[in-house]
Amino acid sequence: MRKPFVAGNWKMNKTAAQAGEFVSQVLPGLKAVDGVEIVLCPPFPALCIVSQNVDGSAIGVGAQNLFWEASGAYTGEISPAMVKEFCSYVIIGHSERRIYFGETDETVCKKVKAAQAIGLVPIVCIGETLAENEAGQTGEVLRRQIRGGLAGVQVSDPSKLVVAYEPVWAIGTGRAASAEGANAVVRDFIRPTLKEVLGADAAQAIRVLYGGSATAANAAEFFRCEEIDGALVGGASLKPEFIQICQAAK
Ligand code: PGA
Repeated sequence: MRKPFVAGNWKMNKTAAQAGEFVSQVLPGLKAVDGVEIVLCPPFPALCIVSQNVDGSAIGVGAQNLFWEASGAYTGEISPAMVKEFCSYVIIGHSERRIYFGETDETVCKKVKAAQAIGLVPIVCIGETLAENEAGQTGEVLRRQIRGGLAGVQVSDPSKLVVAYEPVWAIGTGRAASAEGANAVVRDFIRPTLKEVLGADAAQAIRVLYGGSATAANAAEFFRCEEIDGALVGGASLKPEFIQICQAAK
């Protein structure tokens, strides 16, 4: 009953010209996948061209960040309305934003609320570092990120909020989590905390994705897991391989 969901997080890759070219290349393959919600998240300057290129298809477009204020003197920031002009989705609280740009559970929460207020679907990223994992703190960290990042958030339509579990040690390392391990984390820590914060119905209905070195070679293992509803794909979303990952989610 949870529709499979696959998003490609291009991070700081591809110029607008490269993005347009890539989308033309993969669009026929992506369009041929049905039953999967597919979203491309290019860098800001490529949002316009990518949204034009996917127009008329079921492929969605997402930004990788936004700022919560509506307008004003915030040099370098992008408002929810600016994102909404081209996108229906937005990635919030990616670990790279937390690590390199000082984002916290509190700023994540403000961004989630701003995204929802303008009708964007937030893809909220959570995940523990290697040190936290090795110290046995995974559950504690995820609970803190969910309680803080979703504090006071209302979910009237659970298909309009997505959570991505991305263990930091698995991102860009070629060292994906084991599918069973990730499934257990979602089952034992993430859904119970979503239940506590958003209620039982929402916790069951919200899509929880896996992210971290997901590839065409390992995606099917994750998608077979009961608690995992799709993937947030970084490196492999920059290549035509992304089509195979979307196919595997069917
Ligand atoms: P990766 O990145 O697939 O390159 O590991 C995933 C992510 O950071 O969303």
